Amino acid sequence: MFHLFHREMVKKEREFMKAIQNLSIARSGLNLQVLANQKLVEGIMDSLVFALEAKDPNTQGHSLRVSRMAEATAKHIGLSAEECEQVRLAGLFHDIGKIGISDTILLKEGPLTDEEFEEIKRHPIYSYRILKPVDPFDNVLRGVLYHHENWDGSGYPYGISEDKIPLPAMIIHVVDSFDAMTSQRSYRDPMSNESALEEIRNKVGTMYKKEVAEAFLDAFEANKIPVRDRFREFAGENHGSVKNFVFPYV
Ligand SMILES: [Fe+2]
Repeated sequence: MFHLFHREMVKKEREFMKAIQNLSIARSGLNLQVLANQKLVEGIMDSLVFALEAKDPNTQGHSLRVSRMAEATAKHIGLSAEECEQVRLAGLFHDIGKIGISDTILLKEGPLTDEEFEEIKRHPIYSYRILKPVDPFDNVLRGVLYHHENWDGSGYPYGISEDKIPLPAMIIHVVDSFDAMTSQRSYRDPMSNESALEEIRNKVGTMYKKEVAEAFLDAFEANKIPVRDRFREFAGENHGSVKNFVFPYV
């Protein structure tokens, strides 16, 4: 009797161990699949940034610089590591919707007609639509969709104001403006860092949220903002590639 009972116990124990082993194999297979999916999404998003930069030479390096400057500002404000990461990604992809704007408008050298400008103003919506399928938590999307909204409600595409504008969008707005002002354009020379900072100071309360603009100016003063001329020292050897960016939402 005891013999039979013992044999049954050993058999059950073996079955149990086998089940645990199978679960472990299934889990490592799942982890590999998650990693493969994550790599795929990262690759697709990198390609979109490269595609935008190939289409519009004005944006070359802009997305990466905005991304890093926005992240540094978010850190200076004291946001959590997760929020800083979301701000960084929103900065990287904020203008991705320009892919949807026709070349004749996007690359036009002269002044835009009202109709053409209306189309340009839709690019945050296009960015949102492109990113929506890969950001199920919407956190990055909020930074992207509202990055041209002004604190006083005079921005686009919706004209929302003050604290209705999400903080990540307000951060991107400041650093995006700074990078645009200090960039070469076919119709003007770049502004100096000092003039661009002065311009930001003058637009606090109209374009920019006070606390965000002040944090950016303060972080700049403290040498914590990776602006164009300091970019290499902040970003190391990989400053020209988006390959090191990790997309955590898959
Ligand atoms: Fe934009």
